[in-house]
Amino acid sequence: MYRVYLDHAATTPPAAEVIDAMLPALRNIWGNPSSVHGFGRAAAELIEHARASVARLLGCIPREVIFTSGGTEADNLAIFGAAYAREARGRHLITSAVEHHAVLHGVEALGKRGWEVTILPVDRTGLVDPAAVAAAIRPDTTLVTIMHANNEVGTIQPIAEIGEICRAAGVLFHTDAVQTVGHLPTLVDELQVDMLSLSGHKLYGPKGVGALYLRKGVRIKPLMYGGGHERGLRSGTEHVPGIVGLGRAAELALTEMDAEASRLAALRDRLLAGLVERIPNVAVTGHPTRRLPNSASVCVKGLEGEAMLIHLDAAGIAASSGSACTSGSLEPSHVLMAMGLAPGYALGSLRFTLGRGTTEAEIDAVLAALPDIVTKLRVQAALKGEDAGCDCLFCGPGGEELAESVP
Ligand SMILES: Cc1ncc(COP(=O)(O)O)c(C=O)c1O
Repeated sequence: MYRVYLDHAATTPPAAEVIDAMLPALRNIWGNPSSVHGFGRAAAELIEHARASVARLLGCIPREVIFTSGGTEADNLAIFGAAYAREARGRHLITSAVEHHAVLHGVEALGKRGWEVTILPVDRTGLVDPAAVAAAIRPDTTLVTIMHANNEVGTIQPIAEIGEICRAAGVLFHTDAVQTVGHLPTLVDELQVDMLSLSGHKLYGPKGVGALYLRKGVRIKPLMYGGGHERGLRSGTEHVPGIVGLGRAAELALTEMDAEASRLAALRDRLLAGLVERIPNVAVTGHPTRRLPNSASVCVKGLEGEAMLIHLDAAGIAASSGSACTSGSLEPSHVLMAMGLAPGYALGSLRFTLGRGTTEAEIDAVLAALPDIVTKLRVQAALKGEDAGCDCLFCGPGGEELAESVP
């Protein structure tokens, strides 16, 4: 069946060049990078080459790159590592309500261990207000962690502005840049961050490998103890083929990023405009301009995201939804709820994330398939007498209308 893959925010297919680079590290250069002999030295050289490639993409020095098992571990290393290293200075952390669970669940865990956590709200487009960050900083604040771009709605946060505020206040600043590294410029000095997380499989590299950028001079504690790899911050024999693949993916991103971002933004806009034109009661979620070039997210009123996904999949189109099915009941995503979307819309979220292979014909395939799916599901829901919810796009906690109805 013709398959259209529009779920690149979940994972990207590894680039052919990445696979080609990884194979020798599996077949031939399999030494332990810590060994003194030639087998080990050859593997260590591969790691250092990859570290330099990742550093070039981030505009930092290679020593500031610590390889991890992925974005989740990089986030945890940044948050727990900074919190424990700076415990004596204070136990207050600041984050936002729309972070990935790799961050939110981490800070929640620290909350249970005695840290105080301020979770900043976002506006209806998913943006954090830098002034709110400034207002939340206290003398005992040790870390601010705000993501670069949101994985569900694609909103890009004002990271450089927040970074400037943190620096002036002497507070460490971490950003989860898993959705932006390799897709948008992520030069750490421009972003004014002390720590930044990235993940290989979101930039056409392999799964199970990522990195934390850690600014020179910033001290954190490790999560893992052992042989003292990665400057003592991430013990465990390195995943050499994965690291090599990540390095190659970083090199490719550097050469292709700008052209690809404009190509994808045009396709994304075609998709969003087409959906709004063809489907009644559909709302584009996220920021109108500050959004990832490859991310098109919408909410379809009165339907469940999962039901639409199943029909899209049957039509050969792979997408995703922000709602998660937990023990049979659909929960709207924490991101859409934080943005204040009414449940009648939030449950019907769909996310199309485009990538290197995406063509105009594929976008048109979605525009041809989805309106019919929505009509069919809405007819079925009406026949079952299901309540399509109130007409407002944004609702208050008591169901009061906060914004104009969608026509
Ligand atoms: C924003 C964000 N942070 C962290 C992660 C976790 O990355 P990994 O899958 O490499 O653990 C993801 C993955 O979806 C993500 O989108």
